[in-house]
Parts: sequence; structure tokens; C-alpha cells
Amino acid sequence: MTLTAIKGFNDVLPGESGRWHYIEEAARRVFELNGFGEIRVPVMEKTELFCRSIGDATDIVEKEMYTFTDKGENSVTLRPEGTAGVMRAFIEHKLYAQDPVSRLYYLGPMFRYERPQKGRYRQFHQIGAEITGVHDPLADAQVLNMLTAFFREIGLDEPSLQINSLGCPECRPAYRAALCSFLNERLEDLCEDCRRRLTSNPLRTLDCKVLGCVQATAEAPSMLDHLCGDCDQHFGSVRRYLDLSVTPYSINPRMVRGLDYYTRTTFEMVTGLLGSQSAVAAGGRYDGLISQLGGPAIPGIGFAMGVERVALLLGQREFASTPDLFIATMGSGERDTAYKLMDGLLKLGVRVELDYEGKSLKSQMRRADKLAARYSVVIGENEVNSGRASFKRMSDGTTTELALNAEEIAAALAVR
Ligand code: HAM
Repeated sequence: MTLTAIKGFNDVLPGESGRWHYIEEAARRVFELNGFGEIRVPVMEKTELFCRSIGDATDIVEKEMYTFTDKGENSVTLRPEGTAGVMRAFIEHKLYAQDPVSRLYYLGPMFRYERPQKGRYRQFHQIGAEITGVHDPLADAQVLNMLTAFFREIGLDEPSLQINSLGCPECRPAYRAALCSFLNERLEDLCEDCRRRLTSNPLRTLDCKVLGCVQATAEAPSMLDHLCGDCDQHFGSVRRYLDLSVTPYSINPRMVRGLDYYTRTTFEMVTGLLGSQSAVAAGGRYDGLISQLGGPAIPGIGFAMGVERVALLLGQREFASTPDLFIATMGSGERDTAYKLMDGLLKLGVRVELDYEGKSLKSQMRRADKLAARYSVVIGENEVNSGRASFKRMSDGTTTELALNAEEIAAALAVR
């Protein structure tokens, strides 16, 4: 029996990886322009880290973590997200002592035991960024502008930005109570999960996709009407900064997040193009997380995007790099010349392909077409003897005669 990959774990094949490089390189460019530096943290952490940060009553911790006991009897978990591990490292290495403001980004695989479907996998990849040490709403705006700039950089008008505020430990309890009393009057309309959430995590009922729950919560009280003075002012300033930088956004007062550490600003980049997996990127402020994990009382804000979802949005655009030149040979007698030419051109940074197997000229030219080579050249006895050959531009068939000299060819092909 042949072995296959684990369900929900994907291979990224060569035809696809060009799109991933495009995304990763754009993110690095945009993040580094904004003063962010890369941090690399382990893919596995002590289970307790995720319970204490993401929250015991969340779907992620309750149902989705890859947790197991290692050979030393320690409970360990494959990271379901990046923020917890990055903040663990931030505290452990006292990064706050080096600079009061730190800007970190990361990329890599995350693991959640969810039901796989298009855009939702069990191993998926995030590119995330976090700013710590800034209470000012300017940091919220910078993070949102950076995320918007990333999507602009890769040429997507989708997705669009939605923002909300989840308040703080001062004002959220009163909102939670108001929401619970509203929901208690509609208990019979709620699904079983939501009835359970009523005691563990009532805000999640606003996020339930079951039609009965959507209808029952349509008129639910809004967090935005329950913000305390400071949270209200903070949210107002975030919106004002976004207006100043002409960053498009809408307010979604029903947005709740699947992780417990959020305070104040939360946001999602959403699209209608990926079915039910509408969030392409998401994040928010987490002013209590660092102290909750045993660090000093330092605020933070950040986001993560799902690379697979961004790649799906980019669609079938061609990202694979194509050869500059395909060298075809008439027969085996010309192979040494072709090999030397390829070697010389590769050393000069020209991407060259040739036929490895002595195929017919027709089949070599078919391969040149398939690889979408920019130029091709056929080397036969005449070319070897004269030391010159005719180089064909594949897009329009025009030819240029050049000496079989790597420098001369490289210079001529460099002109696009
Ligand atoms: P999250 O909303 O759980 O937030 O995930 C962020 C993004 O990861 C989602 O918007 C989605 O694009 C992608 N994603 C999540 N689960 C899957 C999956 N099963 N398959 C494919 N893509 C997925 C966080 O993880 C927070 N740590 C974000 C953050 C950073 N907040 C503050 N800083």
C-alpha cells in the first residue's frame, strides 16, 4: 500500500511554491519597511502556554490542539497560532529590556485539528506581526495600515478590513451580563453549542453560523454601546488615524474572535471569495496577555494572515520563474558545446535549460514551449564549427545571431 500524507496536511509542489515565495517576500518587504524584525520560535511549546493565553474555553484549546505526552511525560502541543510562543520568547529573553517598543514578525506552520475543507487545513501557515509596548492607538493604526499595504503590494483589492472593539476588563463584564440576559430570553432559539457557550464564552454566540442563532442574536446588544470612556476614546482615535491615512475599513460590531486574549481593537480582513473561510487575516490588541504569561504589564497588538488563503485569493496567476534560454542540440556530437555554454551562462546568472536525454529536435522544441523559455537556440555541426548561432525570441519568433560566448549571450538576453 502506498503511503499518503495525513488528512489536512498539504504538500506545496514546485508549481505552487512560486506563489508562496511571492507572498513571503512581499510580507518581508512591507514588514521590514515598517521596522519589524523576524523572530523564529519553536513549533512546539508546553501545553500550558496555549491554555493560559488562548483560553481554556475556546474551540482551539477545547477541541483543536495537537497535544500529546512526550517520552519525558511532559504535555506538549504543536502551536495552533503564533502570538503565544512569540510572547513567551519576548518574556523569556526580556526583549522589553532592550527596547521599550518591539516589532516582531514570524512565519511558519501552525496546527489545528479542524474539519478540513477549502481554505481550512490541519497544518496551515501564518505570517504574523506583533508590536509590544505601545498603548497609543497609533500602533493599532500602523498595524492596520501595514496589513492593508501588504495586500496592495501583492496586487489584491480583496480582502476588506473590518474593525471592532471588544472593550477591556473594566467594561466587558457589564456587556457580557447584558448579552447573557438578552440570550437567556431566547434560549429555545439557540443551538446546543450556543446554550453551552452562554456560561463559558457568551460572546461566541454572535459568531455562530447556525441560522437560528444568527436570527436570535440579530438584535443583540452591541459591545460598542458598552465601551467605557477610555475604550471608547481609544476606538475613536483608531478610526481617526485610519481616516487620516485614508485606509478603507468598515465597523463590524458583531465581530468576536476565537481567542480570549483580546482587548479593545480587533479586526479581520474578510473576503466573499473563499466560501465560509472568509477571514484571510485577523488580529487585535492584547494588553493583558504579557502579564498573564508572567511578564511585565506591557501592551501588545498584532495580526496573522493565513498563507493558504492568501494564495487561493491570488488564484492561478503564474508565479513560477521561467528559463531565459533553452538550448537544443541536433545530436550527441554537440552536447559538449551545449553543456559548456549552459555552465558558462548559469555562472553569469542566466537561467538555462537543455535536453538531458538526446530527444528529437521536435520534442526538444516542444519542451522549450512547455517551459515557456524566453529564447531558444539550436546547436548543430555548423554552429559548433562557426562558433555562432541564431537565438530565437519565443514570443514573436525574431532571431538574433550571436557568438557562442556566454558573456555576449548573457548581455544580449538581459534586454527584455
Ligand atoms: P486567528 O484568527 O485564529 O488568529 O488566525 C489568523 C488567520 O490564520 C485566519 O484569519 C486564517 O486566515 C488563518 N487560519 C486560521 N486557522 C486556519 C486553518 N485551519 N486553515 C487555514 N488557515 C487558517 C490568530 O491566530 C492570532 N494569533 C492572530 C493575532 C496575532 N492576533 C494578534 N496577533
